[in-house]
Amino acid sequence: MSQGEVQEQYHQNSTNGEIDDDDDGFSGPLLIERLEGNGISSSDIKKLKSAGFHTIESIAYTPKRNLTQVKGISEAKAEKISDEAAKLVPLGFTTASEFHARRSELICLTTGSKQLDTLLGGGIETGSITEVFGEFRTGKSQLCHTLAVTCQLPIDMGGGEGKCLYIDTEGTFRPNRLVSIAGRFGLVPGDCLDNVAYARAYNAEHQLQLLSLAAQMMSESRFSLLIVDSIMSLYRTDYSGRGELSARQTHVAKFMRTLQRLADEFGIAVVITNQVVAQVDGMSSMYNPDPKKPIGGNIIAHSSTTRLSFKKGRAETRICKIYDSPCLPESECVFAIYEDGIGDPRLEDDNDK
Ligand SMILES: Nc1ncnc2c1ncn2[C@@H]1O[C@H](COP(=O)(O)OP(=O)(O)OP(=O)(O)O)[C@@H](O)[C@H]1O
Ligand SMILES: [Mg+2]
Repeated sequence: MSQGEVQEQYHQNSTNGEIDDDDDGFSGPLLIERLEGNGISSSDIKKLKSAGFHTIESIAYTPKRNLTQVKGISEAKAEKISDEAAKLVPLGFTTASEFHARRSELICLTTGSKQLDTLLGGGIETGSITEVFGEFRTGKSQLCHTLAVTCQLPIDMGGGEGKCLYIDTEGTFRPNRLVSIAGRFGLVPGDCLDNVAYARAYNAEHQLQLLSLAAQMMSESRFSLLIVDSIMSLYRTDYSGRGELSARQTHVAKFMRTLQRLADEFGIAVVITNQVVAQVDGMSSMYNPDPKKPIGGNIIAHSSTTRLSFKKGRAETRICKIYDSPCLPESECVFAIYEDGIGDPRLEDDNDK
């Protein structure tokens, strides 16, 4: 099933804002159990699951040689499994108009600020990776907290009717922030907290392992958002110096590929935050007195679909600039951080200017 169809089914199955896993109508991605039969046994399925494959999409999007690396799966069996998956998941060409129709069904998650949503063409896009980078205190984590709540809202309120998975590498996740934000959107704080699966990552290896667990959880219930706050901090401490740079980037690439796979497989939005460093090279410093660039190099640059730069504004206001996007112009807007989450700057802020 294509992602568009999955999203459409989400639409059809949604009756209200509740996220109900027992909902018989829930038909997200195709569970791997459906491959059983035709020479594929339940023990083969078990082996695939223990290697992190929980959906037929995950098989279809994976190179065959990765399947042969699964313990106990022969080359012939990998071939069979891959062929069966390809029958169920469309992998060929489609017309641009069909693709356009599918994209117009894509759900966007509201950031809490109308201006920011408009800048983003509706909000944070599902099915792709959005990177938010900026200096400390620019509101990256505050946006993550707000999205962890809004992703649970009904689709017609700017939500994704799904749970949130929150990977925290810096120890800055604060459930009490979710409670304040939930109230603003009319959600029961206890339920809202129950719908956020939180994990603290302690090292880069662990950060990657958490994604296997994430895939399993996403195959069991409906998630609409995965947050990684922040993407590079553990790599910075686990790998040091130029000598380890290539090993680090290989690992980062694997992590980003896995994130993209989750976005494709489950139609979720992926939001990652990133730190910045001073940019000392090139011409940019001639035009910009304080140039900063996100870390992680080309790997992060190429694997994030939309890249947003956050800067400080007056008082609680912040500026978001589209740094790179396949379809949005390089423009910017102002938003603000409040006790009840990200929002539009309020009138009294404007009067101060
Ligand atoms: N309850 C709240 N009400 C209003 N503003 C808040 C609240 N909690 C935090 N803030 C503001 O949010 C800002 C911090 O934002 P945030 O933690 O998102 O920064 P960050 O970009 O993630 O920084 P870092 O790189 O250090 O992680 C601070 O300026 C703080 O004043
Ligand atoms: Mg932060």
